[in-house]
Amino acid sequence: MTWTPFYVGDGTPKNVDLGAPPPWRTFPRKPAPTEFRPPPGLVEAVNAALALRRPLLLTGAPGSGKSSVIEQVAAELKLGDPLRWHITSRSTLVDALYRYDALGRIHAQRLAGDDDIASFLRLGPLGTALLPAERPRALLIDELDKSDFDLPSDLLDVLERGEFEIPELARHQQDVVPVRAWGGTDRHPVEKGQVRCDTFPFIVMTSNGERDFPAAFLRRCIRFSMPTPTVESLQQVVAAHLTVSEDDSPAVDTLIAHFVERLHAGESLAVDQLLNAVHVLTSQEAPDSDATQGVLELILRELSRV
Ligand SMILES: Nc1ncnc2c1ncn2[C@@H]1O[C@H](COP(=O)(O)OP(=O)(O)O)[C@@H](O)[C@H]1O
Ligand SMILES: [Mg+2]
Repeated sequence: MTWTPFYVGDGTPKNVDLGAPPPWRTFPRKPAPTEFRPPPGLVEAVNAALALRRPLLLTGAPGSGKSSVIEQVAAELKLGDPLRWHITSRSTLVDALYRYDALGRIHAQRLAGDDDIASFLRLGPLGTALLPAERPRALLIDELDKSDFDLPSDLLDVLERGEFEIPELARHQQDVVPVRAWGGTDRHPVEKGQVRCDTFPFIVMTSNGERDFPAAFLRRCIRFSMPTPTVESLQQVVAAHLTVSEDDSPAVDTLIAHFVERLHAGESLAVDQLLNAVHVLTSQEAPDSDATQGVLELILRELSRV
């Protein structure tokens, strides 16, 4: 395989134009809510979660579009920028509710005799989603299956009650403290340390299915599994992201057909891999026909193989 539009491997410095990036790799990142094509059944699941004020739990293979759903819902229903909480094994519920910089505050008290607790508090993504608001906020709790074992149950408790306490404020002498929200400089008055939502946020939780959740947790969510893509659905997804010329269209159709065959054979492949393959195949810097197969294999490598 030789495909040398930029780097040729001789170490000689030259001025190289890298061409246009794929539309989904332009920076700063722009939300693209109109490009998402909901798979069959997803719209109903989103509407059930909205009507019942329940979180939506999306499961499905990596790259099946789980994390993209919230952008479209939030844009379409004018819920503002989605709040994002990306889960790792170190994520704790308290971190998502609020952060308190106790050391910073002690330091400031010593230095300046200043006791402005508000400067050392900040709500996390979940805490911000639970602020009273005219419109419900949209909150993505991404990859919940990566969490520590107890997190789903702790989370359930807060979501059932729709409120939480900031103990540092509950025992503070000042009754109302303006606290900074997540993702901005806005401050919101918090009275006696109690944060209480008055409209339940729209919450999407995602899972790659790496572990099971307790029945008590599942019962309180609307659950939806992202279906395996079909030739037709992938054609729509490709068309939503890229303009494919008439000349390129047969090659792209072959690529999609092959992609679907591999999915049916049980291989793990993500939609973004297909999009990458189509981009390379249809771009100015496309590999020549000898190199094409090798480049496509590189991009469309199975996910369960390192
Ligand atoms: N139904 C779809 N419509 C449009 N784009 C999609 C769809 N499904 C996946 N994609 C594209 O594939 C990429 C991966 O999706 P993502 O939401 O990150 O998947 P997941 O969170 O399930 O791993 C996204 O950048 C998105 O543009
Ligand atoms: Mg994701």
